[in-house]
Amino acid sequence: MKKIYIKTWGCQMNEYDSSLISNILKKKLNYKRTNVSEQADILILNTCSIREKAQEKLFHQLGRWKTLKKNKKDLIIAVGGCVATQEKKKIYKRAPLVNIIFGPKTIHRLPKMIEELELKKKKICNVNAKKIKKYSYYKNNITQKISAYISIMEGCNKFCSYCIVPRTRGREINRTPQDILLEANFLAKNGTKEITLLGQNVNSYISKFSNGSICNFSQLIELISNIQDIKRIKFLTSNPMEFTDDLIKIYKNIPKLSNSLHLPVQSGSNKILKKMRRKYTISEYKEIIKKIRKYRPNIYITSDFIVGFPGETHEDFKKTLKLIKDIKFDMSFSFIYSPRPGTPAYRLHDEINLQEKKERLYLLQKKINKNTKFFSQKMIGTYQKVLVEKQIYVNKIKKLCGKTTNNRLVIFEGSKKLIGKCSYIKILQANMQTLQGKYVK
Ligand code: SAH
Ligand code: SF4
Ligand code: F3S
Repeated sequence: MKKIYIKTWGCQMNEYDSSLISNILKKKLNYKRTNVSEQADILILNTCSIREKAQEKLFHQLGRWKTLKKNKKDLIIAVGGCVATQEKKKIYKRAPLVNIIFGPKTIHRLPKMIEELELKKKKICNVNAKKIKKYSYYKNNITQKISAYISIMEGCNKFCSYCIVPRTRGREINRTPQDILLEANFLAKNGTKEITLLGQNVNSYISKFSNGSICNFSQLIELISNIQDIKRIKFLTSNPMEFTDDLIKIYKNIPKLSNSLHLPVQSGSNKILKKMRRKYTISEYKEIIKKIRKYRPNIYITSDFIVGFPGETHEDFKKTLKLIKDIKFDMSFSFIYSPRPGTPAYRLHDEINLQEKKERLYLLQKKINKNTKFFSQKMIGTYQKVLVEKQIYVNKIKKLCGKTTNNRLVIFEGSKKLIGKCSYIKILQANMQTLQGKYVK
């Protein structure tokens, strides 16, 4: 049996795609996935190009694999993901050892590409397809997951001025609700208790039922919440644009919806938001959060920030800090702006020096980390409903871990039988994002 090794970078969409890749190669070519790159017959890199550093990881990794390729003549190296769709054949120029270049939309063609390569011994680059056919390969009987992802849409039509995603993932393509429900029911039957709906902008989701009537994102969530065995629903990533009132209302109507929302704001300055082409204002953003908190006073809000966007003054940055204070964000993914070739912002004059950008990032992260710690410590002494996910070893002692509804990881001692169940845990200790607790019932 031949073996594949897959290394995944980037967002959850890529993680989802990587499991599809291994399902497809297992089904069509009977390949088995391995965690040891030296044992593999095919090495696959599922790449991300959101920032320059993420993109460069690909070439560093290929450099490290040179010796593997030298020692095993037939070794196949394939590059997929967002760098592949962006750079296409240019990757061969920098890294001639690569054999196959494929994209998120051509994953289903991988078996054919491998066969063709073995037959003709010629490099292959196949990154574009009009339809997405990979989804039908979601069935994976090997691993049972308590918490699983389902991709509901792919691509982005928003074109924020700094972002490469619409150029790498293409325009929005939505899966039908029937198709998504088939996957959700399949997962539920196989032991999944928590589903995270994935997409670059899940709240833009729009599709049709087989009778022709429209299905939007809030309707889709309602449908999934009707699956009895699914106890918790999350989604990633939503956008303040199109965060409509019907979606806000499901926080009232659907208790299964997690008590944590990731809603990327990027900046606290309207001037910068405009330059970023984000199409909402800070007061609109605050209004969304205010409305959600009316239904869920304790909801935890997390966000993404970009610091040092061209034209960001001290005043603009102070507005971001002010927003963090006002909203009390629980956590964030925050980065220094990285100019991406092919995006409109790439041409903007970037006058802020690197030291200043680093300083701003440091200040922002310090402020949010303080919140994270504060919220975690506030949970000490409380009883939390935890969805138990798996057994882990902590200092050679068997423990269980799971997540609270506000997405905190909780570690405690208990019987393996609790896996997949919601248990009440008394929180005894708190680090930044991890809590230690005691099983109650
Ligand atoms: N669709 C989501 C975000 C997807 S990209 C949204 O619109 O909110 C994930 C995050 O990467 C973004 O929220 C942004 O903070 C960051 N990002 C995107 N392009 C970037 C760039 N050129 N430089 C730095 N960070 C970037
Ligand atoms: Fe990128 Fe903007 Fe689309 Fe998010 S909404 S993926 S930041 S272009
Ligand atoms: Fe990266 Fe592509 Fe995801 S650029 S963040 S892997 S959509």
